[in-house]
Amino acid sequence: MNNLQLEPTGREASFSGFSRLALFRELVTAFRSNDIAMPELDARVLMCAALDIRHEDFIVDPDREISVSERERVMQLADRRCVREPVSRIIGTREFWGLDFRISPDTLDPRPDTETLVRAALEVLEGRSRPDPPVILDVGTGSGCVVLSLLHELGSAAGVGTDTSEGALRVAQDNAKRHGLAARAGFVRTSWTAGLSRAFDLVVSNPPYIPSDAIGQLAPEVRDHEPRNALDGGDDGLDAYRAILPALSHCLVPGGWAIFETGSDQAAHVGRMLDQGTAVPGFGPVRVWHDLAGHVRCVGARRLPVL
Ligand SMILES: C[S@@+](CC[C@H](N)C(=O)[O-])C[C@H]1O[C@@H](n2cnc3c(N)ncnc32)[C@H](O)[C@@H]1O
Repeated sequence: MNNLQLEPTGREASFSGFSRLALFRELVTAFRSNDIAMPELDARVLMCAALDIRHEDFIVDPDREISVSERERVMQLADRRCVREPVSRIIGTREFWGLDFRISPDTLDPRPDTETLVRAALEVLEGRSRPDPPVILDVGTGSGCVVLSLLHELGSAAGVGTDTSEGALRVAQDNAKRHGLAARAGFVRTSWTAGLSRAFDLVVSNPPYIPSDAIGQLAPEVRDHEPRNALDGGDDGLDAYRAILPALSHCLVPGGWAIFETGSDQAAHVGRMLDQGTAVPGFGPVRVWHDLAGHVRCVGARRLPVL
C-alpha cells in the first residue's frame, strides 16, 4: 500500500501533505480491504506507535500535518499489518492482566482468554491454608505472562517458568525485570518439567493444544506469525497434557492444585485424565473455569493431601 509521492518543492520534502487524520483514514481503508477485523483500532495503535505519540495526542490534534519520514514510518508498520502480522507483534508488546509484556517471534502473543488461568490460580491460592508463600510452576511459559502476572498479584510468592525455546525464556526473563519481579522469578530451559527437583504449591500451564491438522486453517495472524511449537498439540491436540500430567506426582505438593488452559472441547477430556487417574493418580474433584465469552477455558484439580 506504500504509494508515497514526493512532490518537487522544498515544502513537500519535509511535509507529506497528509494530516494525521487523512493518513489514519487511508490506513483504515487499506486494512478493510485486507479483511482486518478491527481496522480503526489497529490503524490508531500503529499510527501512535510509529509517530511515538499517545492516543490522546492523536484525538486532540488530528489535523496536524505529518512529515514525509513520519508517513514512511507509519506506512512501514501498516504494510506489515496488511499481510496480517498482528499489531502486538509489530509493536512488540501486548497488555496482559493489566501489565505490558514484551513479545518476540519466539513467544506466543498472550491471549485475553489466558487471563482465566491467572484468575483460576488466584482463586485456588486464596483457599490455601499454609502460611508460607506459595511457589508456582508455569509449564510452557512463553513470554512469562502467566507466572509473572501471578507474582505481580502475590507479593511474596516465587515462581519458575519452563520452556524449550531459549528465545522465549530470554523474553520472559526480560519481562520479569521490566516488572521488578526478577528476584522472585526463575526460568529454566527444559522439556515440560524434566529435571525439576522440587515440588511446587501450584502448577499452571497453557500448553500447545491445537491439533496439528487444524493449524493450517487458523487465521493468518496465528498460522503465519505464532511459533509452531507454541501451537502444535499433536494429532488430537492433547500431547502436552499427556506429557505433563504424569509428572505432577513429583512436581506438585500433596494438597496443591494443577490448572490447565485447554482448547474448545478439550476440558472434558483433560478433566477425565485428572479425575480418573488415567494419567496421574490421586487427584480430587475436577473444576472448570469459564472465559469471558462463557466457554470452558481452564480445568484443574487438587492433588489429594496425604492424611
Ligand atoms: C501456548 S504457548 C503458551 C505461552 C504462555 N504461557 C502464554 O500463555 O502466553 C505454549 C508454550 O509452550 C512451549 N513449549 C512447547 N513445547 C514445550 C516443551 N516440550 N516443554 C516446555 N515448553 C514447551 C512453547 O515454546 C510455548 O512457549
